[in-house]
Amino acid sequence: MLNTDQLAEWDRENFFHPSTHLAQHARGETPTRVISSGDGVHITDRDGRRMLDAFAGLYCVNVGYGRTEIAEAIAKQAHELAYYHSYVGHGTEASITLAKMILDRAPDNMSKVYFGQSGSDANETNIKLVWYYNNILGRPEKKKIISRWRGYHGSGLMTGSLTGLELFHKKFDLPLSQVIHTEAPYYLRRKDAAMTPAEFAADCAAKLEELILAEGPDTVAAFIGEPVLGTGGIVPPPEGYWEAIQAVLKKYDILLIADEVVTGFGRLGSMFGSGHYGIEADIITIAKGLTSAYAPLSGSIVSDKVWKVLENGTDENGPIGHGWTYSAHPIGAAAGVANLNLIDEMGLVDNAGKTGRYLNTALKNALADHPNVAEVRGEGLMCAVELADTKEPLGFFDPSRKIGPSISAAMASRDVIARAMPQGDIIGFAPPLCITEAEVDHVVDVTVKAVSEVLG
Ligand SMILES: Cc1ncc(COP(=O)(O)O)c(C=O)c1O
Repeated sequence: MLNTDQLAEWDRENFFHPSTHLAQHARGETPTRVISSGDGVHITDRDGRRMLDAFAGLYCVNVGYGRTEIAEAIAKQAHELAYYHSYVGHGTEASITLAKMILDRAPDNMSKVYFGQSGSDANETNIKLVWYYNNILGRPEKKKIISRWRGYHGSGLMTGSLTGLELFHKKFDLPLSQVIHTEAPYYLRRKDAAMTPAEFAADCAAKLEELILAEGPDTVAAFIGEPVLGTGGIVPPPEGYWEAIQAVLKKYDILLIADEVVTGFGRLGSMFGSGHYGIEADIITIAKGLTSAYAPLSGSIVSDKVWKVLENGTDENGPIGHGWTYSAHPIGAAAGVANLNLIDEMGLVDNAGKTGRYLNTALKNALADHPNVAEVRGEGLMCAVELADTKEPLGFFDPSRKIGPSISAAMASRDVIARAMPQGDIIGFAPPLCITEAEVDHVVDVTVKAVSEVLG
């Protein structure tokens, strides 16, 4: 077995890591972390250090680590048939079964699932489908996509454009011109402090309508949003937000894409965030929780309304010119089938609701009164602690102080992983859905210690 130092050297010399400070890492100024195993909510590195992962990887290992049921399903599939494509009507028992299982769980107006590999490629697919849809309907001008500041939808060319975080645009010549951004439903940092949540929700909808009118409703094809903003700071919407947004979209015949890459399959305590918030989407993006990241697999669930137009499109134009070699990869599909069964058997959707309320309440009770905690917010097993230098008026820490990353590092030194979210001093929590109340107590205890170590 290789020792960690040798691996660290090879890592620095050969491995181009995503979302990493490349120069610092190549110079050896940031550590190489070699994770070698996992069980339940814990991961263990090669030095034997065991950590509680309160972010479930990248909020994706929803059933927890080390589930042999999924490992065995993957192995069985690999032995029987590691690969066959899904072009021109081909499939496998796993991919066909999984599509049915997804539709059985999805909102009633959903019709079919297109499979991809990642959340990013699923959202790329969605935008192509929206453009195709409007071309088939004879509306070639209706192509712009509205996304929200602080939204996260991936880091491809189109999806990086949809993402509303500066880091993902800077120096990449993004966003592309077809993408426009509107106000995030980020109540804490609203411009007008006098607004109630309901007034703020109505204001977000009014701003959306203004934008649509300014662009020309005939040029706007779709709106994309996560039910709860994730990477942009774990921000649940204010009461009435989705209702108000949907009324505007309907008025101008604009499709709604619900990006449920994080919220799909139970994280909010409901099978989908769409059901949780009364969102009637035309397309739903799924990934992460679909396989709990045991294998890469994503999907675009399309509604009856969209599907009918796609069918007409192929009658007029021939087979749809969109496909990936690995669409509906059998190993991913086998992992998905085993994972969705496990979510049911373990009662994880209910646990996410119940333990999520416990986590949110416990963090609020422990930290809301701290002079630098601006807000503790969340829904289900998503929670954020936002830090500020002053609460009234609400300020920001100087970014160079790196308060968020320092708290996350102080937690890691106590063997608990929480994520310093990329924009603002926000600590994010999104543990595996199997987390227990006792494990939550430990996470909260460590968070309190880390906050007081960094901020007093
Ligand atoms: C809401 C949302 N959409 C899309 C993506 C992109 O998924 P991937 O990283 O699998 O491409 C993410 C990733 O975090 C996400 O959170």
